[in-house]
Amino acid sequence: MIQTFYNIKLLVQTETQPKERVCGAEMATLNNIENAFLIVRNDKIEAFGNMSDYQKVMKRYETEDEIKEYDVTGRMIFPSFCDSHTHIVYAGSREIEYIDKIKGLSYEEIAQRGGGILNSSKLLINSSEEELLEAAWNRLEEIKWMGTGAVEIKSGYGLTTESELKMLRVIRKLKEMSPLTIKANFLGAHAVPLDYKGKPAEYVDLIINEMIPQVATEELADFIDVFCDRGFFTVEDTERILMAGIKYGLRPKIHANELDAHWGGVQVGVKYNAISVDHLESMGEPEIEALKGTETMPTVLPGAAFFANLPLAPVRQMIDAGLPVALASDYNPGTSPSGNMQLILSMGCIRYRMMPEEAVNATTINTAYAMGVQQELGSIAVGKIANLFVTEPIPTLEFMPYAYGHNKVEVVMLNGELQ
Ligand code: NIG
Ligand code: FE
Repeated sequence: MIQTFYNIKLLVQTETQPKERVCGAEMATLNNIENAFLIVRNDKIEAFGNMSDYQKVMKRYETEDEIKEYDVTGRMIFPSFCDSHTHIVYAGSREIEYIDKIKGLSYEEIAQRGGGILNSSKLLINSSEEELLEAAWNRLEEIKWMGTGAVEIKSGYGLTTESELKMLRVIRKLKEMSPLTIKANFLGAHAVPLDYKGKPAEYVDLIINEMIPQVATEELADFIDVFCDRGFFTVEDTERILMAGIKYGLRPKIHANELDAHWGGVQVGVKYNAISVDHLESMGEPEIEALKGTETMPTVLPGAAFFANLPLAPVRQMIDAGLPVALASDYNPGTSPSGNMQLILSMGCIRYRMMPEEAVNATTINTAYAMGVQQELGSIAVGKIANLFVTEPIPTLEFMPYAYGHNKVEVVMLNGELQ
């Protein structure tokens, strides 16, 4: 089937020679076509261009059985956001901690009181697979209507072999059921559970000897993650876990430099060729240096920094140093209870002083790279999967990050199907 969008006010993030990711000064460039058309065949993007060529191009399709044409006058089309860092399989919520936060307690203080990840773990262990699936499905639907077309989802609230596998099986079901592209990330090393209090090395042994082999046997994960930071896991723990995961073909992604600038999370990620290192609220020159010339995508999580009142990642310095930057939501019950990538776009601009073009690159092609889907998603390019959204009528590209707070997505297409 052929579907076409015509009279597109602006077709955003088009590529004729698709890139894997965009770095440094290149991030300020976004190729857009004014007054454009876009043609989709089945689930793929087939052609796009200026309206002046539309009638001519459509002649090629005269013999097609089924053609649907959509007039989108006044509206823009973006490639769907890719959200390369979320924890959307969780039970319950943590608004009681929110009150502690308002009173001034830090993320670490809340965790030390038994709140935080261990609180979510208790709730998750007592939830059935069906309950978790239903809650996560609702979150997936919610982000779909806000423009997200691909999402990475982590385990990490189980913290026992059984419950980590339960989480990953829920993610596998979501993969089967949802039109979004989903990648699964095994984050057994999210926190040391209470049963292992004071003996973290034994918990790391459990992850290595029991969890990873089972996760791999059932092919439940695409990536392996560690919360490598003060109060959670050391660089040594991280190395042991990553080496075990890599043996089974799991590429690392790291929670790095959220709490401690000198912990070494970025460096250990780079050493093991992590696909991304995420958070980066506390990092400086050595980390920027360590990332130069590597295949690791520095990923900033503006929602977590906002919600947990953390310092801001040095995005301008990173871009000025020639690094790529990705922006993801970190949707989770503790530090970012929202997966709204439009809000992430806005925060990228105003809080991190990214230009709108940089923020669009950071939420599309660079996040696609950070979850390994840059060849199929993350831009409007011939042959890529037709995951895109049509905005409400908006005056300019800049209006997208500027007018934060309401959903500006009007129509969603995933895999060539209108949702
Ligand atoms: O990315 N920092 C570690 N993990 C999550 C938070 C998890 C939680 O508090 O539930 C994050 O912010
Ligand atoms: Fe996270």
